[in-house]
Amino acid sequence: MIYLDYAATTPLHEEVLEGYYKVLKQYYGNSDSLHEIGRKADRLMKQSRMQVASSLCVKETEIFFTSCASESNNMAIKGYAFANAHKGKHLITTAVEHSSVLETMKQLEEVFGFSITYLPVSEDGVVRLSDLAAAVREDTILVSCMYINNETGAINPIKELAAYVHTHTKAVFHCDCVQALGKYELPLQDVDMATMSAHKIYGLKGCGLLYKREHLPIIALISAGQQEQHLRGGTSNAPAYTMWAKTIRLALDHQREHFAYVKTLHEMLYEAFSNMEGFVINSPQNGSVYILNVSCEQIGSEIMLNALNARGFAVSAQSTCASKGKPHSYVLAAMGLGELRATHAIRISLSHLTTIAEIEQFLQVIKEIYHEYRT
Ligand SMILES: Cc1ncc(COP(=O)(O)O)c(C=O)c1O
Repeated sequence: MIYLDYAATTPLHEEVLEGYYKVLKQYYGNSDSLHEIGRKADRLMKQSRMQVASSLCVKETEIFFTSCASESNNMAIKGYAFANAHKGKHLITTAVEHSSVLETMKQLEEVFGFSITYLPVSEDGVVRLSDLAAAVREDTILVSCMYINNETGAINPIKELAAYVHTHTKAVFHCDCVQALGKYELPLQDVDMATMSAHKIYGLKGCGLLYKREHLPIIALISAGQQEQHLRGGTSNAPAYTMWAKTIRLALDHQREHFAYVKTLHEMLYEAFSNMEGFVINSPQNGSVYILNVSCEQIGSEIMLNALNARGFAVSAQSTCASKGKPHSYVLAAMGLGELRATHAIRISLSHLTTIAEIEQFLQVIKEIYHEYRT
């Protein structure tokens, strides 16, 4: 099988696997226990937090380990909204966020009486500063905008958007950086909170991270013990959290060379799809080099995915979290690309592990499928 679905998840790095196995076996103590077995696990976790903070150029007290990026998004948005509702009950996000942001916002609106504004995006899938400026209100307390869109690779101008929020409002800025970590430089100095996930960068599944600027008030969604500065209770998953350090180091150490290589793959794909009969590119040309979204207007997403799968290629149609429903990309719809493109799209996502030969085979096969299935 040729895997071209790296935005959904990645295979585990061998070094992370080896390290994890060792830590799981040898450091099984509860990191909150006072005896030496617990203290050893705690020390490893602390070291990892320090290394992660140093890699990201932030303070270790600003790093919170979680079970996944979906949890981090919930923790940041609900945690901040609940702790600051007395300042205002208006939040702003975009129409194209990951479901963990959109569903969180929906719940805040429907269950907890907050008011939410969903910013539109341009035809390139990018948020415009003018739309943000028009949406902010006196009672806006938080703006959440992703850095790189997981379906199209569109890159938002986070520095500019966050600067506007900080100079013109009293709101804080949260950024979902899941598809950017290890690929693009993160705008952590510009934002107040940021979300990351290990399994998108060859780390463990069930392992997320929230960066939260020091002293920014949020409340715990999992109330229990002293873990994560009392902001996320429950026995720490110390072995998994310990592996964050290695995961992030491996990703950042090789970020530049991986990026340069993947850019050549992306150019190859972009060029091929620009000239391919029956296909239209949905991703902006200046988007992430790791993601390319295309539609074949004569073949629906599901049929295309199944045909590719049958020939040994793994790609996605939309965000994997929504993949069990009827294929319809709310992201492409929000970009104004029309119903047909939204229901006939596939996402190809790349890695430094992808070879040129794999791309060549993929292009060959997708052309064959087009000729076989077109109506
Ligand atoms: C942009 C974005 N945010 C959040 C998530 C959720 O990540 P996790 O699987 O760690 O919950 C994903 C995963 O697809 C994503 O692409």
